[in-house]
Amino acid sequence: MALPAQVSPPQIALSEVAPSSVVGADVVAVPVLAGARLEDGVTLGPGAAELVDELGEDLFALLDQAGATGKVGEVVERVVLDTSGLSNRDLQLVLLVGVGAGTTDDLRRAGAVIARRTRGRQSVATSLAALSDDAGMRALVEGLVLGSFEFHWRSGGPQNQPVQQVVLAGLVDSDSRKDVLERALAVAGAGWHSRLLALVPSNEKNPAWMADRAVELAERAGLLVKVWDEADLARDGFGGIIGVGQASATPPRLVRLDYTPKRAGKKTPHVVLVGKGITFDTGGLSIKSRDAMMTMKRDMTGAGVVLSVMGALADLDCPVRVTGLMALAENAVGSSSTRPGDVLRHYGGRTTEVNNTDAEGRLVLADAMAYAVSELEPDALVDVATLTGAMKISLGQRTGGFFANNDALATTLRTASLAAGEPLWRMPLVADYEDRIASKVADSDNAGGAPGAITAALFLQHFAGGLPWAHLDIASVGDSPTDEFEYTKGATGFGARALLHWLELREPLAGVID
Ligand code: BES
Ligand code: MN
Ligand code: ZN
Repeated sequence: MALPAQVSPPQIALSEVAPSSVVGADVVAVPVLAGARLEDGVTLGPGAAELVDELGEDLFALLDQAGATGKVGEVVERVVLDTSGLSNRDLQLVLLVGVGAGTTDDLRRAGAVIARRTRGRQSVATSLAALSDDAGMRALVEGLVLGSFEFHWRSGGPQNQPVQQVVLAGLVDSDSRKDVLERALAVAGAGWHSRLLALVPSNEKNPAWMADRAVELAERAGLLVKVWDEADLARDGFGGIIGVGQASATPPRLVRLDYTPKRAGKKTPHVVLVGKGITFDTGGLSIKSRDAMMTMKRDMTGAGVVLSVMGALADLDCPVRVTGLMALAENAVGSSSTRPGDVLRHYGGRTTEVNNTDAEGRLVLADAMAYAVSELEPDALVDVATLTGAMKISLGQRTGGFFANNDALATTLRTASLAAGEPLWRMPLVADYEDRIASKVADSDNAGGAPGAITAALFLQHFAGGLPWAHLDIASVGDSPTDEFEYTKGATGFGARALLHWLELREPLAGVID
């Protein structure tokens, strides 16, 4: 049963004319800015004056009547019935869209609001980009794209179609912003792709399916790709990945993707990304409860993030070499499941006593990290994983957590995450908790106990080989409880945008290596 055709994000074009003059647009959206103080009232942004002229209507009165405050999320609608006097006879609807103070986050959210309000429409012309700097415009585009996201497996096709086209109108010099738009589309597209992967049900999405998607993407994006099947994994000593995946009817895989920038030389730094790719997490013999299992089809979000990031690096002209590793396995229950008390030998020889088969993410990540350290000579190592429920308790569902053994890397990642609208908060690698992952028989115990997110990070740290390393625990933000701005209810694909905002920097490893 193949994945049915999905909706595509809207086409986005740039224009210098005022939004009310964009011929063919059935919707026009202009910004409403909140006053600095409530009593200051609201301000209408660029494009509004032309609209007032054309419609011959006092839009301020309309806002007043609606009690508009200009805050993000607020929209005042005006249906256009008589188009006889207008330069654009197709106009049907005017949206006065709250953009708050017009910050980057405000614009991302306002973009998503426009996307939701224009579903099923032909074309929306908006002047929101005329009010934004480059960062704001990127966020706006990310919001427009991700707010249009839809995933379906319906026999009759998707329930909603995104607006077909968005015209970012009223720009002073549209040519100068083409590059900004291209970058925004690359990042937003990666966010879209990673969300889509996380939503695919696990009767379709098994380790081999994920590996096939990687091979497909590698061809499209011009990356080198190598896939280990279960026999290759056993031969090369990937005991963690084998141990987690051995009870599944769909055996495990490891995927390696390599990106080399156009101007690469001997000194070009090398980053390795490792993603947790559990295509379904039952917990294994330490089985999860019915409720806890509900969202576990998206336990491969880390690997999906890595794949989506790899696919966008060339479009962003990323200046460093990047290798992506996807550690793929289904954590299933069966007569060949790894048992509590079993000992696994990871790539390179380190051993783990598996005292909880539900702490499987660290077992597959450990193998891939050890491989990276011993075979790839990276300058920095970053892993991404929906690793611990504890992280959800610490940070809730709007902020991801991360750990780092390098302050410069931590600062850069934190800043990039904020710019991307995927905020990450640094957590401490508390050395005093090391004794909690000690095992009586092996090098470590995989079920370190509380504090769960930190003991998991400490477990992984042993596989980072002392390299600059960051561990992103995105369990907290892997799904969204509601439709909220750029997030749609369900799997989020969180992390791809944050990593791309990092890897597109001129020097992603500034201060990390000398
Ligand atoms: N995939 C889960 C973590 C998770 C929980 C992700 C909730 C998203 C939402 C992971 O494999 C897991 O089961 N972790 C255990 C670890 C414990 C057994 C040491 C956890 O957090 O309970
Ligand atoms: Mn688990
Ligand atoms: Zn898991």
